[in-house]
Amino acid sequence: MRGKRIFNLSAAAVGAILLTGCDGDTEYLTKTETEYVTQKETEYITKTEYVEPELKPIKSPIIIAHRGASGYLPEHTLGAYELAVKMGAEYIEPDLQLTKDGELVAVHDTTLERTTDVLERFGARNGSTNVGEYTLAEIKQLEMKLNGTAKYTYPGFTPTSNDPFKVPTFNEVIELAQRLSKENAKEIGIYPEAKLKDELQENKILESLEKYGYTEKNKIYIQSFSAETLKSLKNKMQNRGYLLPLVQLGNAIDSSFNDTDYSGTLGLDCQDYCVLTQDSPPQVIRLADIKEYAPDIGVSLSTSKALTTSSSWPLYTPDFYTYAHELGMTVTGWTFNKSRLDAQSIAEYLGFFELGMDGFFSNYPDIAVEAKALFIETQKRLPTETQKP
Ligand code: G3P
Ligand code: CA
Repeated sequence: MRGKRIFNLSAAAVGAILLTGCDGDTEYLTKTETEYVTQKETEYITKTEYVEPELKPIKSPIIIAHRGASGYLPEHTLGAYELAVKMGAEYIEPDLQLTKDGELVAVHDTTLERTTDVLERFGARNGSTNVGEYTLAEIKQLEMKLNGTAKYTYPGFTPTSNDPFKVPTFNEVIELAQRLSKENAKEIGIYPEAKLKDELQENKILESLEKYGYTEKNKIYIQSFSAETLKSLKNKMQNRGYLLPLVQLGNAIDSSFNDTDYSGTLGLDCQDYCVLTQDSPPQVIRLADIKEYAPDIGVSLSTSKALTTSSSWPLYTPDFYTYAHELGMTVTGWTFNKSRLDAQSIAEYLGFFELGMDGFFSNYPDIAVEAKALFIETQKRLPTETQKP
């Protein structure tokens, strides 16, 4: 009798769900649902022949743990990835860089300075602390530094990997995802990002994925800010006889994009909806053209005024998502953080979910899981326009 439950739910109850659901209190939701059935609705239900309503498919945006549970534990570590999975993240995200000896490691910045004690241990090499100046053996000696809200421990969580707070290789991240998939009887997806525009890096990413069997229908997406990198990866995969989904990262823009404000001289403009990439020089690419090489766009949730002069920023307009969906594309947003109040964080997620966002990167997977559960529950309980009594 799920349909009947949906009929019974008044607008006030929906409001109550939105408020109380923040605490994950499902028992209270059930009580509230019953309490809010109005006299009018009861009469309607008893006097009207009940027809099972047609339900819209439930939207279920995917949760990607941004650099692991990086709001809680040091980013890009096996410990942070494991905590993210424990909290319910569906994908884990490693940004990838190449070491001096050509190994892929999970590091966000070009340099090791912000996240490790490289300067104290080795000093700068050739005037920099670039990942590419150090061998894997050297990088493995580094201790992580804390950034943002991360700490070295999380209540009730003991990492099960050896060296949970060292810089991991891409292969170690994959092995962790595969082990946790087995232990949880549920595939944990991987969302690697090619950080460099580099042929060797592209080849190494594909070699690792092939080594671990990621050549078909696995939960895997490869992302990059560089359209050239993605096109090159697509060619390489096709030449190797497979094709994994690619994600074009960048800023969502529309025809209000003002190149003069942005850089002045690139001569870039956008005829409909586009993504501003980080190629050199940057490119503005229409969604319809991105679709030719990448089915997903991963776009920034925050943008400077220079990127748009319109009052309606594309990511706040449902038309943007409708347009992408009509093209058969999906939209993923980065990065969801934590507000002062958890309820504010959840409201931010729900706003983007309502607009049509299909996936999202979060530094706080537990809040992401709560927001997603609430969104799904709300969809189950809300009648579509045609189902309203
Ligand atoms: O890959 C999506 C998001 O992570 C892009 O930002 O700078 O954190 O890699 P960044
Ligand atoms: Ca990234």
